[in-house]
Amino acid sequence: MINIDPKSSTIEDCKLLTLPKIHNPAGNITALNGNIDLPFDIKRVYYLYDIPGGEERGGHAHKELYQLLIAASGSFDVILDDGKTKKTVNLNRPYFGIFIVPGIWRELVNFSSGAICLVLASNKYNENDYLRIYKQFNIFKKYKIK
Ligand code: TYD
Repeated sequence: MINIDPKSSTIEDCKLLTLPKIHNPAGNITALNGNIDLPFDIKRVYYLYDIPGGEERGGHAHKELYQLLIAASGSFDVILDDGKTKKTVNLNRPYFGIFIVPGIWRELVNFSSGAICLVLASNKYNENDYLRIYKQFNIFKKYKIK
């Protein structure tokens, strides 16, 4: 199991993964096995859909959670921020996924019409794992215990 210190994690730890694709003229399949096709065990799956035009999601960081975000349909941008540096990743095909490590602020923007954001997560929902205020995120990242 991957183990990254959330206080010192950076956007370079977040990787755009090309997911396995089983080609079929009648429609492709992508199958994701925890700890094999992605670097964590999957404990929860959720998805965002019916997102109104112009809406933005995310706007938080996690203290321990690992996630893989996939544009199962349509497209959107994921802005990743480690407190020092930001990068934007465009997801537009179901065989790409952005792997996000703990300690990274993320915002989801520019959803296309009908977009579905599929999320595979390393743990069950836990509100205590969230940093929802950017200032608190900055404090969390700044005071690394050595
Ligand atoms: P939130 O994580 O704030 O959404 P996003 O980051 O996508 O904008 O979650 C919105 C609401 O849904 C919040 O009240 C918590 C609830 N929720 C669950 O109950 N279980 C879950 O697995 C998730 C992701 C959210």
